[in-house]
This record gives sequence, structure tokens and C-alpha cells, in this order.
Amino acid sequence: SDTPHEKMRSAHELAAKLFYHVLTLTEQGALGREYVKERGFTREQIEHFQIGFAPDRWDALTTILKKREFSLDLMVQAGLLGERESKDGYFDRFRNRLMFPIWDGQGKVIAFGGRTISDEKPKYLNSAETPIFHKGQTLYGLHLARPSIRKEGTVILFEGYVDVIAAWGAGFTNTIATLGTALTEEQAKIIRRNAETVLICYDSDQAGINAAFKSANILEQVGCMIKVADMPEGMDPDDYIRTYGADRFKSDVIGASLTFMSFKMRYMRRGRNLANEAERMRYIEEVLAEIATLPRAVERDHYLRQIADEFSLSLEALKQEQYQIFRSKR
Ligand code: CTP
Ligand code: MN
Ligand code: MN
Ligand code: MN
Ligand code: MN
Repeated sequence: SDTPHEKMRSAHELAAKLFYHVLTLTEQGALGREYVKERGFTREQIEHFQIGFAPDRWDALTTILKKREFSLDLMVQAGLLGERESKDGYFDRFRNRLMFPIWDGQGKVIAFGGRTISDEKPKYLNSAETPIFHKGQTLYGLHLARPSIRKEGTVILFEGYVDVIAAWGAGFTNTIATLGTALTEEQAKIIRRNAETVLICYDSDQAGINAAFKSANILEQVGCMIKVADMPEGMDPDDYIRTYGADRFKSDVIGASLTFMSFKMRYMRRGRNLANEAERMRYIEEVLAEIATLPRAVERDHYLRQIADEFSLSLEALKQEQYQIFRSKR
């Protein structure tokens, strides 16, 4: 008498239990245990995030779902199984992967992210859109993080599941992640309902920096205060925590986060040779246009002084220049 949606949900619950059981207690989970050990995930992290392992078999989940009398066609629609090309049977979609349950806002499992433990492609196999899983409306870890997000008024936003998990191990509980895609406006609105300030802590590679810039703009549009973490080039939060530890992550990355304006200035500098006069002027012009968009005079003044100091220019000249840029844009 359950609706198809309810069936899909209970199948996900069951699958999450199976994967967790396999990882923590069975012979078939041995390679998964080796992988998590090497990555440094603790028992507490595995339990809190219900991390599991899909064994290297075609029929582990299929057999259980069949035994429990789930419609296997429905399980294909739910993204858990595939149907054989010959149409004479079904197979497990997730095999030989570390499994991260993805929950809805209430903590019900609605999808999975499966990471290869070797170098198979894709690195992450994620559930596709299904009737119960809408990627653009889901934020990884939100139900776990909500109490501390509300308490602190701030949420830390990561790119990856494993960054959330590593940060939790380092004592940060107000943490969530997008699911590998660009932040959607729907996700931004959900974030805004839970927190006033968002600290973006994406990977510090080209893709991550561009994504941080885009996410910050979307979040600003829905009324969030933005900060951007100061992550050394080429690292991601999980790398950083494993390399330098929780204390330095707290003081040098989270504690040293930039305002959105400072992040923009750094962003606009990238790939520019500011020793070259023409490039320097172009940069200053862009920054001045950006500073002009700040709503508060004290803020504008602060950044103008910073530019004036850095390039030994007078505040007067900068204001004059800004006025001209402003006029030419009308
Ligand atoms: N992702 C994905 N498919 C891929 C690669 C990435 O869906 N082929 C998503 C995953 O949600 C992942 C996020 O993008 O968590 C960030 O990607 P990436 O930085 O490459 O992975 P990490 O989180 O750093 O994972 P790991 O440390 O295990 O490599
Ligand atoms: Mn739906
Ligand atoms: Mn990345
Ligand atoms: Mn990463
Ligand atoms: Mn990583």
C-alpha cells in the first residue's frame, strides 16, 4: 500500500544499511576498509555519515531487494539497479565503490554518491535524477549540520562529500556540500533559510575558484553575507586537513577567510602581470568599478585606500577615476 515514492525511499534506507554493514562487518568489505583506513576516516566519521561499501558483485543489492519483494523495475527508476540489455534480469548499479548516502532535508536517504576505490572512471558515480532525488534542491549533510548552522548563523559550504566529512573530523559541524555541480538558485534559497553568512570553501584549483565566484554571486543575490576561505593553491579542504591538521585549518583557512570583495580583487589579479602598466591600469579600473557597487561608504573607502596604498596613488585620483567609470557606464 506504499506509494512508489515511499518504496523508493525504503529501498534507499535498506541499501544504506546493507552498504554500511558490508563496510563495517563483512569479508566483502575488506578492500573498502583498507581504503578508508588509508584515507584516514575514523570509526566516528564512518558512523556519523553512514559511509558504506558496495561489494564487487552484480547481485548483492538486487538479491536483497528481490527477497523483500520490491518491484525491480521501480528500483531501476530509483537508480539503484540497472536492467540487463537482454531484459532478462537486473544488476547492482553500484559495485566496488565506497558509498556515501545522500539525504533529504529531513535525513531520509534519497540517493548515493559512490567513489571508486581504485582509479576506475568515473571517480564518483552518483545517482541520477529520480522521482525522489532532485540534485539541484539537495545539499549534502544539511540535516546533520542544521542545529549548528542555526546556532552559529554561519554555514561552511564545500565542494565534496569528503570535505564535509574531513571538516567534521576537525571539529566543524556547520558544514554542507553541493553535489559536484554548480550551486543552483534553489540551493541558495535553502541555504539562506538556514544561515545568514556563508563561508565558501571550495577547492583551490581553477574549477573550484571559478565555481566559488559563481556561487558567491548567487548567494549574494538571495541575501547571504559571503566569505571565502583562504585555501592554498592546488589544495582542497580534505587535503589541507590531512596535511596540516585541524588547528591550522581553523586559523589559516577558515579564520583567514576573505570578504567577497577581497576575493574578487584576488580573482581579478589572477593571470595578470601587474608590473606591466597597461595591465595594472586595466586591473585598477576593474577593481574601481567593483568597489563602486558596494552599498556602504565606509566599505568603499576601505578598499579605495587599500588600492591607493598598494599602487601609490592618491585617494583623490581614484575617486575621480571611479566617477568617470561610473559616468561612462550610464
Ligand atoms: N564529482 C562528481 N563526479 C566526478 C568528480 C566529482 O560527481 N567525476 C563531485 C562529487 O560530489 C565530489 C565533488 O564533485 O564530491 C568534488 O569533486 P573533486 O574535488 O574531484 O572530488 P573530492 O571531493 O576531492 O574527492 P576525493 O578527495 O575523493 O578525490
Ligand atoms: Mn519528486
Ligand atoms: Mn574539485
Ligand atoms: Mn576536491
Ligand atoms: Mn579531495
